[in-house]
Amino acid sequence: MSRQEMSKPEPLVLDVQDLVVHFELEEETVYAVNGVNLQLKKGEAIGLVGETGAGKTTTALAVLRLVPSPPGVVKSGSIHVNEYDMMKVSVQQLEKIRGQEVSMIFQDPMTSLNPVFTVGEQIAESILIHEDVNREQAMEKAKKMLELVGIPSSRAGEYPHQFSGGMRQRVVIAIALACNPKLLIADEPTTALDVTIQAQVLELMQQLRERCGTALIMITHDLGIVAESCDKVAVMYGGKIVECGTLEEVFHHTKHPYTEGLFNSLPNIRDRKSDLKPIQGQMPDPSILSKGCSFAPRCPYAAKKCEQTPVSEHHFSETHQVLCSAYDEAGFHIVRREGNG
Ligand SMILES: Nc1ncnc2c1ncn2[C@@H]1O[C@H](COP(=O)(O)OP(=O)(O)OP(=O)(O)O)[C@@H](O)[C@H]1O
Ligand SMILES: [Mg+2]
Repeated sequence: MSRQEMSKPEPLVLDVQDLVVHFELEEETVYAVNGVNLQLKKGEAIGLVGETGAGKTTTALAVLRLVPSPPGVVKSGSIHVNEYDMMKVSVQQLEKIRGQEVSMIFQDPMTSLNPVFTVGEQIAESILIHEDVNREQAMEKAKKMLELVGIPSSRAGEYPHQFSGGMRQRVVIAIALACNPKLLIADEPTTALDVTIQAQVLELMQQLRERCGTALIMITHDLGIVAESCDKVAVMYGGKIVECGTLEEVFHHTKHPYTEGLFNSLPNIRDRKSDLKPIQGQMPDPSILSKGCSFAPRCPYAAKKCEQTPVSEHHFSETHQVLCSAYDEAGFHIVRREGNG
């Protein structure tokens, strides 16, 4: 390998820069995503965590260009999935890109499955859109996919309601992975399933991902799932990623006061059932755009300037970034506020 090749950065599967998404309602504007940056390399898995309303799903929908519009408006930023500029691709291209480049799994499998078609037909349909095969060949591949997710291919002719919740989510995974996407976005994929089934479905996703080299964005409230299935973590708050880094960096060298709060509220981070517990105070009102740090009103370290001046970004390593005004060149310099936290 030449020196030039060695220094060439690895191509990104996903590159989101400064993404801003609003919901323009009659009575108010909801500032859902306020400048998100997110990069993912081939095969990498990132956990996207944060309290309800933080903007996780909206960010994911924007990547697939699925933000409901109206009222949703992607105000600015850029999104690249491999070589595709998602803001510029045509509707026809989008149909190809969804499934082949990037797929999404939602929390409730019933929202992604059509009750009037058999599961075999639904997997085959997705293959037909993306691959140069006839209906018969697509059905053959659909049956293989079913076997791959642990469902006997003899059940391909059955309808979604004939399957249990866990099996339906397996069918959704089969559809999502049928065309070998480079990026899979899973939005709370196991929240609706009971605990034993959850573990099986996660294990299955992990196996398929490793086999196919698929990159993953795992949106979850469960830090145990992140610890088990991701390489990196992005913590979202008020429509921004406030801390991002490797598992080791974010879990063991936590820098953002919000992340610290999340971890402090957990009995045991390694506990498989460690659900995020909300920390003191309320999430910011999404219809008010804060001038400074939106976490400041709840932050035990916040100084006056935190609420009033634009929040600054700090890089602790090539991979570890934090949005917090409490850091300056000398490091963390603000003392814990009395009576808060
Ligand atoms: N279709 C919509 N119309 C109006 N507001 C919306 C719409 N979808 C999302 N929002 C608002 O955008 C903000 C971000 O929502 P989003 O669903 O992205 O959060 P989230 O982090 O996925 O939360 P959760 O953990 O509950 O799934 C919230 O204030 C939400 O109420
Ligand atoms: Mg969501």
